[in-house]
Amino acid sequence: MKVTKAVLPVAGLGTRFLPASKAIPKEMVTVVDKPVIQYVVEEALAAGINEIVLVTHSSKRAIEDHFDTNYELEAELERRGKLELLEVLKDTVPAGLKVSVVRQGSALGLGHAINCARAIIGDAPFAVMLPDVLVQQSGTRTDLGVMAEHFHETGNAQIMVEPVPYDQVSSYGVVDIKGVELEAGEGAPMHRVVEKPPREEAPSNLSIVGRYILPARIFELLDNTPPGAGGEIQLTDAIATLMTEQGVDAFRIRGRSFDCGNKLGYLEATLAYGLKHPKLGSDFRALLKQYQ
Ligand code: G1P
Repeated sequence: MKVTKAVLPVAGLGTRFLPASKAIPKEMVTVVDKPVIQYVVEEALAAGINEIVLVTHSSKRAIEDHFDTNYELEAELERRGKLELLEVLKDTVPAGLKVSVVRQGSALGLGHAINCARAIIGDAPFAVMLPDVLVQQSGTRTDLGVMAEHFHETGNAQIMVEPVPYDQVSSYGVVDIKGVELEAGEGAPMHRVVEKPPREEAPSNLSIVGRYILPARIFELLDNTPPGAGGEIQLTDAIATLMTEQGVDAFRIRGRSFDCGNKLGYLEATLAYGLKHPKLGSDFRALLKQYQ
């Protein structure tokens, strides 16, 4: 089945990003010239996904506004003949993109957040994209698009992974693929998955990056998933149950991931995206030389 929908959980308060996230959502913090969330939506579109479900919180209205039409601003730009800027503005919500919003009333964890999108997703398979993470592609095909194709061909859920140093495994979901050596862009069946294991108990150093393709069955499993790591309802735990019923594959990222939820990851993303920016890239590279 084709994957055309994605759930973006954006209800988290972003405490790791204070003070920047005090009055604006952390997802609205700018990387180069766009808010982080815009990159994630563009990644979804590039993977053939055109329905986005934002699982959000009352303090995060700016995200909904960003994906809405701003009539006043459009009319004003048109009146002033600023047509290039008008295009930039309109490009934030490309034709065909459908954005729905659902509230997560209480912060009970990622699994709970995803389950809030159930009524909108229905029976369709869907992507989960954690907007803290940016995935920069090197080729034309996106990793998420490849994962969606693998799902379409095999019916197996797809979980994006990448190796991290062992002293960082306790920050992530960690997968067991029985020692298979995955090259970038390859997949392998998952045998176990553990949320934020202590280093000694980690089955590998392959961490979940924050991109998933899941069948709708995951909602029923989330209903019966008790609180896990950190006392929260964990998506990872529901995926572990899914693995007892059907194939779940780990897919090793080909692009680069940036964890914009932490400050150094955010700075690195700014560098990487600044250097690749079609208009600013070469001037930015020259500028950086002054700081070496
Ligand atoms: C979540 C997931 C975790 C995953 C991580 C990726 O954790 O629960 O499995 O590895 O995102 O960023 P969080 O960062 O929300 O604590």
